[in-house]
Amino acid sequence: MQHSAFKFLAAALAVAAPSVDALLRFSCSSLVVERLDPLVFPGASQSPHLHQFVGGNMLNITMDPARHDIGSEATCTTCTFSEDFSNYWTAVLFFRARNGSFHRVPQIPNIGFDGARNGGMTVYYTPSYNNQKVTAFQKGFRMIVGNPFYRTAAEAAKNRQLTFTCLQDLSTRTGETADMPKQPCPAGIMANVRFPTCWNGKDLDSADHSSHVAYPSSGTFESGGPCPASHPVKIPQLFLETIWDTRKFNNKADWPTDGSQPFVWSYGDYTGYGTHADYVFGWKGDSLQRAMDANCDISCSQLKSQSISQGSQCTQSQKVAEPIDGWLSELPGAMQITGPQPAPSTDGNTGGGSGGGATPTTPGGCQSAKWQQCGGNGFTGCKTCASGTTCKYQNDWYSQCQ
Ligand SMILES: *[C@@H]1O[C@H](CO)[C@@H](O)[C@H](O)[C@H]1NC(C)=O
Ligand SMILES: *[C@@H]1O[C@H](CO)[C@@H](O)[C@H](O)[C@H]1NC(C)=O
Repeated sequence: MQHSAFKFLAAALAVAAPSVDALLRFSCSSLVVERLDPLVFPGASQSPHLHQFVGGNMLNITMDPARHDIGSEATCTTCTFSEDFSNYWTAVLFFRARNGSFHRVPQIPNIGFDGARNGGMTVYYTPSYNNQKVTAFQKGFRMIVGNPFYRTAAEAAKNRQLTFTCLQDLSTRTGETADMPKQPCPAGIMANVRFPTCWNGKDLDSADHSSHVAYPSSGTFESGGPCPASHPVKIPQLFLETIWDTRKFNNKADWPTDGSQPFVWSYGDYTGYGTHADYVFGWKGDSLQRAMDANCDISCSQLKSQSISQGSQCTQSQKVAEPIDGWLSELPGAMQITGPQPAPSTDGNTGGGSGGGATPTTPGGCQSAKWQQCGGNGFTGCKTCASGTTCKYQNDWYSQCQ
């Protein structure tokens, strides 16, 4: 299907790279949009912020690799490579109107992937740009890239290649920025997430779900840069694209009166510097390794595949019952907005509204029944609940008192 168009895109993506030998590029329809996070909050019946999930139907509130072999237990996947039962997820984009109400921004399919239910994502696995052998992810592997607490360019620079493309049309692949586009994007906003490409070779996961992987020690993945001694094993570059269809929110008369942009992520971020994505590996058997070894390019005779419409039939119902569509008075989970945000609108409406500079936690820690955004990775406060409440869930990122 339009192989030359894909080749063109692949070349466009490989800016400043020697050459891309081969890559898997495929569509995964939406599986479910809900406020769960089996990686950061295993066992918690709700997570603090809303996610959009694609991939296999083993997605659940716990996905303990010791108890489940995802690749053999899952029965369907939204991805067109039908042995890929992995789950991939990101946060969800919302438009915020001048009156303070929020509306979820729909997703649309990428070029060539028409019919992908609710847009879903485009997934890439690139073995290498210089024909070296890569070690595919192993059973039980999971990782996160990005950090929902980052709100500055300096913080975001700790990660590489987490960007946004302001789509002039669906084939725009230039002008990636680390923060949200400042002007209306005629064809939507594409969120691009490239994961690190070096692994420590031992750990399937780590406490922060990130430190078992790393970036090349010099150069880049695309330039064939070497992996650091601490993380010597080259793994495929996993790359996710999600297209947020902002078109019906592009009227500047509806944008904040201070001239800033109106889109806010489900984790309470207008800047985009907190962009992040999660991956739970679930390829059946050694199928991914076989595809990497064969240097499959777009299509792959070594892999079983299904049509986009078959993939779109795989779906899950929301386990967290709450409204996520229509105009909402707050972000799902009552997620508070932190960091830079629009000034209150000057036309008499609330604009910045409840998020406008509000302190997410009352002094002394988690004193509300809502999820509290307690700081960030390694945060040690907010571990005690107000009298009369008990802590139902806590980790280094969040806690919840009821
Ligand atoms: C999810 O987990 C629950 C309980 O832990 C179980 O009853 C349910 O069958 C699981 N769903 C899937 C799709 O595995
Ligand atoms: C807020 O503004 C949006 C967009 O103009 C409108 O559709 C919605 O009804 C308004 N909500 C309230 C509560 O006024």
